[in-house]
Amino acid sequence: MSYVNATAMTPRAESAESAATTGFQPARLAAKKPGIGSAIVQYILDHPYAVYAFFRRFKPVLIAKGWAFVSRYDDVVDVLKRQDVFAVPFGAKIETLNDGPNFLLGMADGPAYQALHQIVARTFPDSDNRTAIAPIAAEEAEALVAASDGRIDAIRDLVTRVPTRLCERHYGVAVPDEVRFGHITIAMSTFMFGDPSDDPVVRAEALKAGAELRPLIDAAIGSARARPNSRTVAGRLVGEIRADGTPLDDATIRAILIGMITGFVPTNTMAGGNMLEMLLRRPDMLRAAQAAARADDDLLLTRCLWEAFRFLPLNPGPFRVCGEDAVIGAGTRHATAIKKGTKMLVGTHSAMFDPRRVERPKAFDPSRPSRNNLTFGSGLHWCIGAPLAEAQITHTLKPLLTRRNLRRAPGKDGKMTKDGPFPAHLTVLFDPD
Ligand code: HEM
Repeated sequence: MSYVNATAMTPRAESAESAATTGFQPARLAAKKPGIGSAIVQYILDHPYAVYAFFRRFKPVLIAKGWAFVSRYDDVVDVLKRQDVFAVPFGAKIETLNDGPNFLLGMADGPAYQALHQIVARTFPDSDNRTAIAPIAAEEAEALVAASDGRIDAIRDLVTRVPTRLCERHYGVAVPDEVRFGHITIAMSTFMFGDPSDDPVVRAEALKAGAELRPLIDAAIGSARARPNSRTVAGRLVGEIRADGTPLDDATIRAILIGMITGFVPTNTMAGGNMLEMLLRRPDMLRAAQAAARADDDLLLTRCLWEAFRFLPLNPGPFRVCGEDAVIGAGTRHATAIKKGTKMLVGTHSAMFDPRRVERPKAFDPSRPSRNNLTFGSGLHWCIGAPLAEAQITHTLKPLLTRRNLRRAPGKDGKMTKDGPFPAHLTVLFDPD
């Protein structure tokens, strides 16, 4: 791995990954050629509008080779609402990596899900986003951008690094190697949420990554028990009391921390990276975001970033599996029977461009109603980290957007590269003050 901009890194953050030969090796994932499934998904992502428009019009619920692809807004929202029929398929993999209990995105609705949801809501209160997430992200991002002297790998040295530092400063999890921590969490996320074909290399590396992350989490829980500190997430979790009056056991705390880390660092890397990529592709989007950043209008900046993200979201949509024979679009001309066991790709990206429900879908319009934006999902599993993500990403990209003459580095450094589906590198330049 080459470090284009070593000045943006503290010595502690240098990665020792090249020395790791027996454990988790991110290079094995980076070297993997995409399978036919991910190649098709990539093709759709690169040519989305025509493909989606074709399906919405002629085959709103496409069924092929044991899979269903749902493309219209109403059907997408309906499928995500019917979580008892169209179930999340992630539970077994989440339990494997937790080496313990399940977490929210692997669970069906019910008392256990609701109790866990409430604990997470209490330990990640909305007020934190104003009092901790936004200021810490702003401070870290400004320091990284200022130290870069006008050239920065905006993914590795900003977009991934800031959430990693929040895991340390806000969650209370010591991170010995920031770059490796990012790779570990990304490998785990890819396995849990982005690999329905269960590729053996992805699985093997994710298991090793999980084995490396769990001791860091256990150490954080141990420190929090030894030195109570209600300002960190780990500290709050050890002080949590369930509705029945019992404290949380370590396995549950570990599942929550792993879930809220693997939901955070990889996802915000992809979201922040895709937003920046979109801004660099579209001068109108960049100008709007820069104007909001320079006017110090954080709300408008968030709206600009999420509207840009609508064009290049995380993926075509979430996966589900059909738990019983069912019908999508009942009562319409495209009503389609789905057999129990059918795997589903629920097309939130297509839905956000469905002119039946979204006005002028191809226009960049930061003032859109929030229902037009399904980047955080819909229904029961709607992203519980959404406010945190908005605060962190807004304040991470803001220092870049206030700099003069932001642009891609020339040559291949200025083109985004990926590790699997996740942004890995994208070097940008700006005029130093
Ligand atoms: C821009 C960044 C983010 C995006 C685009 C995003 C997107 C999503 C989406 C689409 C879902 C629903 C998945 C599904 O239905 O299958 C989801 C759920 C979830 N997200 Fe996020 N997410 C982001 C950031 C975060 C952060 C920062 C955290 C944690 C700190 C987080 C934790 C979760 C969790 C725990 C769930 C499951 C919620 C449940 O099952 O009730 N996410 N996210």
